[in-house]
Amino acid sequence: MPILNRIAAFHDDMTAWRRDLHAHPEIGFEEVRTSAFVAGKLAEFGIEVHRGLARTGVVGVLRGKREGGAIGLRADMDALPMQEENEFAHASRHPGKMHGCGHDGHTTMLLGAARYLAETRNFAGTVHFIFQPAEEGLGGGRLMVEEGLFESFPCQQVFGMHNWPDMPVGTFGVHSSAVMAAADRFEIVVAGKGGHAAMPHHTIDPVVVAAQIVTALQSLVSRTTDPVDTAVVSITTIHGGTTFNVIPREVVLTGTARAFRPATRDHLEAGIARIAQAIAAAHGAQAAVDYRRCYPPTINHADEANLAARVAAEVVGAGNVSLDPQPSMGAEDFAFMLERKPGCYVWLGQGSGPNSCMVHNPRYDFNDEVLPIGASYWAALVETALAPASR
Ligand code: NI
Repeated sequence: MPILNRIAAFHDDMTAWRRDLHAHPEIGFEEVRTSAFVAGKLAEFGIEVHRGLARTGVVGVLRGKREGGAIGLRADMDALPMQEENEFAHASRHPGKMHGCGHDGHTTMLLGAARYLAETRNFAGTVHFIFQPAEEGLGGGRLMVEEGLFESFPCQQVFGMHNWPDMPVGTFGVHSSAVMAAADRFEIVVAGKGGHAAMPHHTIDPVVVAAQIVTALQSLVSRTTDPVDTAVVSITTIHGGTTFNVIPREVVLTGTARAFRPATRDHLEAGIARIAQAIAAAHGAQAAVDYRRCYPPTINHADEANLAARVAAEVVGAGNVSLDPQPSMGAEDFAFMLERKPGCYVWLGQGSGPNSCMVHNPRYDFNDEVLPIGASYWAALVETALAPASR
């Protein structure tokens, strides 16, 4: 089962949908036009539509020709708050907003599969098409789960997909376990004593303390984490002071920590607080550390990964399915769904040609060439996972 002919036949339609979504990007929880577009298409295909879960989320429910189990297929709909630098006809019409991560393509591929599956219904059981809002940092997936996604739409398994610009068109990457890291954020407020920059002995300089904290935090991964484990601690902002001759009272640092294993995550959280507070104390200053756990690691389940790899191989050939490529330290909201249900999140090659660039780049654009590949994968996955029992 390579690219399904019926899906290839509406490649042009999918391209038009994708470019329309690209031209009208909406950021997390503001996907009003996008969710109306999705709901309209699903209804047009004859699929039962449920709106309003996690504010702008949409779930389509489609039953096959026979009774059977139920699975969820998930796509994300949100854009990024960034300025697009492309100049083609379908470039963003909304300044400061851009489909810089290809969620326009993800939404389109799932709609394409929905159209095909609604026509054929060649499966036993129920498919839930899950269109989630706010994947980019706002936890739309978590909110859908909290608002009862799997109670209202029970699924035995759940599947996700993301385009991957580092892999050629016509390839898939399937991990049997860890795919993406847990992503946490923290803020450290270093409080000292402000004063005249020419009389530092009357102050407790939080700038010097903050600088030492930034440096010391680098040892958390390099010296205290198992070298064959993987973790990141990045300080990404430093704010303090107002002018050249005043030592400020406080400096605020923010950053992110990434890890795969729960124990490593605990280790980073405890270590950041310990190092910041001890260094501050050594200088007579104080450090208040606020550590927030954001996205859990995205961990595939082995059986579902096996199934996904088999289906991907049917679509693009086994030689084009990379098994267990190196995981990414990026994070993914689909992790919240995988915490609740067994499932698999795959990477879809999006091409490494001269025009391709990584996601979140102002020149990025989803590659329309892969639309029928992704949609065929979804369709084949349903027909395989919910195959009518042979008799
Ligand atoms: Ni994304």
